[in-house]
Amino acid sequence: KRHLISAADLTRDDAVLILDTAEEMARVADRPIKKLPTLRGLTVVNLFFEDSTRTRISFEAAAKRLSADVINFSAKGSSVSKGESLKDTALTLEAMGADAVVIRHHASGAPYRLATSGWIDSAVVNAGDGTHEHPTQALLDAFTMRRRLVGRDAGLGKDLSGRRITIVGDILHSRVARSNVHLLHTLGAQVTLVAPPTLVPIGVESWPCEVSYSLDDVLPKSDAVMMLRVQRERMNAAFFPTEREYSRRYGLDGDRMAKMPEHAIVMHPGPMNRGMEITAQVADSDRCTAVEQVANGVSTRMAVLYLLLGGSEPAVTTTPAATR
Ligand code: CP
Repeated sequence: KRHLISAADLTRDDAVLILDTAEEMARVADRPIKKLPTLRGLTVVNLFFEDSTRTRISFEAAAKRLSADVINFSAKGSSVSKGESLKDTALTLEAMGADAVVIRHHASGAPYRLATSGWIDSAVVNAGDGTHEHPTQALLDAFTMRRRLVGRDAGLGKDLSGRRITIVGDILHSRVARSNVHLLHTLGAQVTLVAPPTLVPIGVESWPCEVSYSLDDVLPKSDAVMMLRVQRERMNAAFFPTEREYSRRYGLDGDRMAKMPEHAIVMHPGPMNRGMEITAQVADSDRCTAVEQVANGVSTRMAVLYLLLGGSEPAVTTTPAATR
């Protein structure tokens, strides 16, 4: 079985194949009937130990559009609250015949443990583990950037060579930043991280990116600016600057956005803290791709499930133009 645990495991060719397959899947979303029969008879389990809106719903939509059966498991309200272990939860899912397990967990490494433990025989997809990685978020972000910065059809087969991507905010706690840095580097982009010194991880020198402490200096040289949520739930209050100070130095408002090149986009993985890292004016502007990212998440996750579960039929059957 193949798994998707970390964006760092993907080669350039793997990543481009996923992005190209996601483009094919996006064509399905444009059809009157948005469903393909490719994963009929297979079961995808969404195993969520942490809250989620976008990731859980889009994996469910992706699996259903490929005709798989979907079982949604949320730790809240399950026997996990009675102390059941990850192993026993996994064995229960295995007994129900899961072909793929999409797991979000508060512990970094939980998806890797599940994939390598021998407890289950399913493909494992990491849907966000602690502060470690969120590989499908990075893939949907790369998909969005390639469409916007290279072109929808012109982008097929291509990577993000030479594009300058800035990631801003709570890097320390961000699995989205970690996955994006790896994937964007693999795809040839130049990545700059901007954050308060207390929210930059120790060891960042070994990451394939640059670090800046001045957002205003970096904005005019960015093709995409990704704003991150400040993750107070993972933070000791002592590490955190005041909200006012944070938005003044690291928040994106209309005046700052005006410093970006005209073609540059603003991204946010969600959920957003409006008024903190991003103003409502920027979040609701045409340049912000947050909602587009969510839509692209369904196509990207369809591509991941299709490639991992090896659909027996072609992803998209092309109808000859004459018979359309
Ligand atoms: N971007 C993201 O992972 O959002 P959710 O936490 O809502 O899934």
